[in-house]
Amino acid sequence: MTKQKALLIIKPDGVQRGLIGKIIARFERVGLKIIGLKFEMASKEKVVAHYPETEAWFAKVGQRTLTNYEKKGLDARKVFKTNDAVAIGKIVKGWLITYFQESPVFMCVVEGYDCIEIVRKLSGNTIPVLAAPGTIRGDFSHDTIDLANEQNRPLRNIIHASDTPEDGEKEVALWFKPEELFNYQLAGERFMYII
Ligand code: CMP
Repeated sequence: MTKQKALLIIKPDGVQRGLIGKIIARFERVGLKIIGLKFEMASKEKVVAHYPETEAWFAKVGQRTLTNYEKKGLDARKVFKTNDAVAIGKIVKGWLITYFQESPVFMCVVEGYDCIEIVRKLSGNTIPVLAAPGTIRGDFSHDTIDLANEQNRPLRNIIHASDTPEDGEKEVALWFKPEELFNYQLAGERFMYII
């Protein structure tokens, strides 16, 4: 077993609502080790690099939107003027760039075995209205895709958490310099054996 790293970003809505401490406490409570922390005013270039500029990413985001609209009997063309998944993904990315620059974002790197699965479980479904109670998105938001899209903005879902171990490595390298990451021992490590 190897340890994984995950990047957590408390997005502008989480920062503006004063939720940083409450959110970070949840990752500490479960036993993950915080190895990097900072506040940053994100540049456009960093946000563009953070959300992959690939057909696959655009299609994933666009398809999620289309599936949601279909379930609710709504027509995506009313908002996006298209029902092409990639084109919708590109529009959402434009909204994300503006949104990420509304205020500083709070960045945190956590490390542990099965870290990615743990951070995704604690964060909850990307769409807040579908996120289970007890998760960060389920407890602090109830935003929906259709409302967000009608208002030409991304979901205000409070936190970004890396999706896969590979994304975790890439995202940490994008936002943190090696000297901004710290290696130390947590008191709990001797007793929990999991960190
Ligand atoms: P995140 O988990 O950071 O990764 C991609 C982000 O895109 C996601 O959170 C949402 O904030 C946003 N997003 C994805 N699909 C939509 C959509 N249809 N409408 C608004 N925002 C979206």
